[in-house]
Amino acid sequence: MMRRLEAAVVAFPAGLLGRTALAACAGISMLATLAHPARAQDGERGKLVYEQWCSQCHGLQGDGTGPAAQRMLTRPRDFTRGLFQIRTTAGGEIPTDEDILHVINVGMPGTTMPAWEALLPEGDRQALVAYVKSFYPPFATLPAPVPLTLSSGGRASDDRIAEGRLFYDSIQCWQCHGQAGRGDGPGAAELDDEWGNPIRAADLTQSWMFNGGSTADDIYRRLRTGLDGTPMPSFSDLLNAGFMTDDQLWSLSHYVRSLSPADPPQVQEVIQVERAARFVEVPRLASDERWDEVEAFYVPLVGQIITGDRAFDPAVTSVWVQGIHDGTELAIRVTWSDRSKSPDPTWQQLWQPRVLAALEPKGLGREPGARPDRLSIQFPAVIPEGMDRPYFLMGDSDTPVNLWQWRSDQTRPQRATGRGVNDITTTGPGILTSDAQWVNGQWQVVFRRDFEPNNAETELRFELGRPVPMAFFVWDGDSGEDGTRGAISTWYFLNLEEETPVSTYIAPFLAFLITGALGLLAITRARRRDRESAIGGTPAAATAASTS
Ligand code: HEC
Ligand code: HEC
Repeated sequence: MMRRLEAAVVAFPAGLLGRTALAACAGISMLATLAHPARAQDGERGKLVYEQWCSQCHGLQGDGTGPAAQRMLTRPRDFTRGLFQIRTTAGGEIPTDEDILHVINVGMPGTTMPAWEALLPEGDRQALVAYVKSFYPPFATLPAPVPLTLSSGGRASDDRIAEGRLFYDSIQCWQCHGQAGRGDGPGAAELDDEWGNPIRAADLTQSWMFNGGSTADDIYRRLRTGLDGTPMPSFSDLLNAGFMTDDQLWSLSHYVRSLSPADPPQVQEVIQVERAARFVEVPRLASDERWDEVEAFYVPLVGQIITGDRAFDPAVTSVWVQGIHDGTELAIRVTWSDRSKSPDPTWQQLWQPRVLAALEPKGLGREPGARPDRLSIQFPAVIPEGMDRPYFLMGDSDTPVNLWQWRSDQTRPQRATGRGVNDITTTGPGILTSDAQWVNGQWQVVFRRDFEPNNAETELRFELGRPVPMAFFVWDGDSGEDGTRGAISTWYFLNLEEETPVSTYIAPFLAFLITGALGLLAITRARRRDRESAIGGTPAAATAASTS
């Protein structure tokens, strides 16, 4: 979809030509409408701009049924119901003009709604506000909406974040958003929006995808106003009822913010694989704690919309990739948010049929069923010279690719050779091993292999310091994905670092020094307390003090 949009934007100069002509006509018609010059002109301009840029998604009648709408699970908004998510007004109230202009300007991250500020002149965006409102006649008669008085929340601190978590539990945000915030709560599989479409509870660990912005301020505002038209309620009532204070709602906002990285992740083309310290085996298990020390690289995914059964709204939108090698063996861990451990009977029954019914393309014999989650990593069969890379969609007949395949319903991985999406031959695991765990809405899958392959004729041999192209495919079974319907990345490069970075030697040494120093500090403190308690308190009080 975005690609098509870019095409539309590239075509803009052509559109501009048409505009000049139209502007001339508008000059003439202005004479006829002198009575209400601003309004009539605005209305025409709004209609014109809307029909050119918005109607493919939002529909000519503003009812959210443009030709592209069936391909989005978060449907383009139907404006005829007057429901808006990103407001400064109370739940259930209409938004202010500034609210609507704001969302048109910055778009809605995590959905297909683009940001128009850089694409359309200010006057056009103003005119669009009026035109969008015209689809819901009560806008003309309702009293002007009054924004809520919103406080400012101060800085986050560990205490506030901990307090926020208490409210996350007691208000039961986890019912929808899950224990770790990944949108996998016990009620998440059955959620639908005002229009009866399935809706995913937001993944709170990816704040850069929040519809209304990612800062603690944005989150606080969403909690005060709710997201009208979705199951996400407003929590202002809890303040009014005295269940919590405004300050505590801020703590909750800080807690939610703390679940995501401080900055939105940056994409790097080269994924560096650290060399493990000498004589240390590379990790075999997904849960190995050493992974916590290894840099994770962010890889965004998009739906496969090039061939076959396309995925216009894939469930998985990114993976994080880590690697360690020891000079002869390589381990890669891929981590991603996935709301269910497919096939999960609840999601299979309550979620999958609704998604398949809502999303184009339907049919193609795709029935709801027990589908596993899947991951494939793709490499070329030989390290190419320079920047050459095979066709990224599973290779072609001239340049085959190697695939490392994992699926949640099997314990062993598969190797495969791809000569195109319809020509994939699997050959069993060979020396490739894998391990996987799903915890609180997150998959972590480790692949491990020697640099030397089973079959040097057809399989990639890894070399130090020679970057290898690598791409990713992910499927969410409970969203009905398999085959060509899934999420894909473009090519990245995997680089096996030649030397052990000095830090891997120094880090354990430093850790040793620091633990030593902390130990000393604890001992001196305890001694001091002992002395103090010998003078005043009881020994029991001294023990309690030194453990607190
Ligand atoms: C590529 C599809 C697409 C295009 C083009 C598009 N929108 Fe949207 N728009 C969406 C989607 C999807 C949503 C709903 C997102 C959600 O519910 O989370 C949305 C929501 C909105 C909302 C509701 C905001 C809120 O607070 O709830 C407004 C207003 C809006 N769009 C205006 C426009 C205008 C004006 C244009 C043209 C300049 C436009 N859109 C073009 C997809 C699109
Ligand atoms: C009944 C289910 C439900 C409950 C309970 C719930 N949420 Fe949500 N929440 C949702 C859904 C669904 C969305 C996604 C709406 C969308 O995509 O437009 C969402 C979205 C969000 C967002 C993202 C807002 C944005 O700008 O996109 C945040 C933050 C959030 N919820 C926090 C919370 C917190 C904190 C609580 C508890 C106080 C909570 N939610 C309780 C269902 C729920």
